[in-house]
Amino acid sequence: MHILLAGGSGFIGSRLCAELLSNEHEVRVLSRDPHHADLPEDTETVMGDVTAPDSLAPAVENIDIVYNLVALSPLFTPEGGDEMHDIVHREGTQNLVDAAETANVAQFVQMSALGADPQGPTSYIRAKGRAEEIVRKSMLTHTIIRPSVVFGSGGEFIRFTKLLAPPFLSTLPGGGKTRFQPIWVGDLVPMLSATIQVDAHENQTYEVGGPEKLTLAEIAKKLHAADGRPTTVVPIPMGIAKVGLSIGEQIPGFPLGLDQYRSLQFDNVTTDSDITAFNLTQADLRRIETHLNRDH
Ligand SMILES: NC(=O)c1ccc[n+]([C@@H]2O[C@H](COP(=O)([O-])OP(=O)(O)OC[C@H]3O[C@@H](n4cnc5c(N)ncnc54)[C@H](OP(=O)(O)O)[C@@H]3O)[C@@H](O)[C@H]2O)c1
Repeated sequence: MHILLAGGSGFIGSRLCAELLSNEHEVRVLSRDPHHADLPEDTETVMGDVTAPDSLAPAVENIDIVYNLVALSPLFTPEGGDEMHDIVHREGTQNLVDAAETANVAQFVQMSALGADPQGPTSYIRAKGRAEEIVRKSMLTHTIIRPSVVFGSGGEFIRFTKLLAPPFLSTLPGGGKTRFQPIWVGDLVPMLSATIQVDAHENQTYEVGGPEKLTLAEIAKKLHAADGRPTTVVPIPMGIAKVGLSIGEQIPGFPLGLDQYRSLQFDNVTTDSDITAFNLTQADLRRIETHLNRDH
């Protein structure tokens, strides 16, 4: 198959690129700056930007399957402000879907996020929810994957958690009680690759999470323990955190704002993880502690 990976230069996309190449597919990666992308040798690259529709026609030419893994991280306030999520995730998805339809692409795989909801509490979650609607309403055969947070070398989640909750004495909004279900990138990528192998995945939406549901405080303690640094979490009331972040977000370049505060008010766990659709059980998936001890 000829596959286009939009966002294929990123944390998850670059691993998916290697996986698809190893499965004998021809892979083309769309990137705004392909020369800086660290990709396997056999990868074809094309310069393009999902917010620039004209740049997408050459990218989808002769392509059978499109994966949309384009991202603006929800962990930090994006350059240009929170409205950039709508431009990149919703408008960008619309542009890519339009280009894929025009080019008669056979299948579209959309990387969404757990909790994606057009009416959701943060710009990222709303944009992801609206992007899903665009994909579902399209004429394309599609699969939508909604993971919880993804961890692995080069990913942002571990770095972000260590920054938010430093070692030894860590103040966390609400005591860090928000629950996450971290999934290892090495477990997620084969699922992404499997979506195009079996007809049963067509027009499905899957929520996927790792083997454990952990609070942010528990995750922070595990991360620092792996570095040999014990951590005590001291709760700061959510109201005070909100005031602090609403002041912080007025400061140019300050990386956190009210959306990050809002995202800490909602659990990011599956009700019923859909990993069974990929013939997996929770026991097959890597725990975050195992990853930390292996260091890869
Ligand atoms: N990582 C997680 O914990 C997590 C959790 C849930 C869902 N997801 C979703 O999984 C997908 C992949 O995430 P990731 O962590 O791999 O993200 P990432 O490492 O930040 O990579 C995102 C990629 O998007 C590309 N990109 C950004 N803006 C673009 C634009 N305007 N036009 C074209 N490409 C653009 C970037 O490529 P260039 O800079 O080369 O252009 C980058 O390689 C995203 O949809 C994300 O929302 C991730």
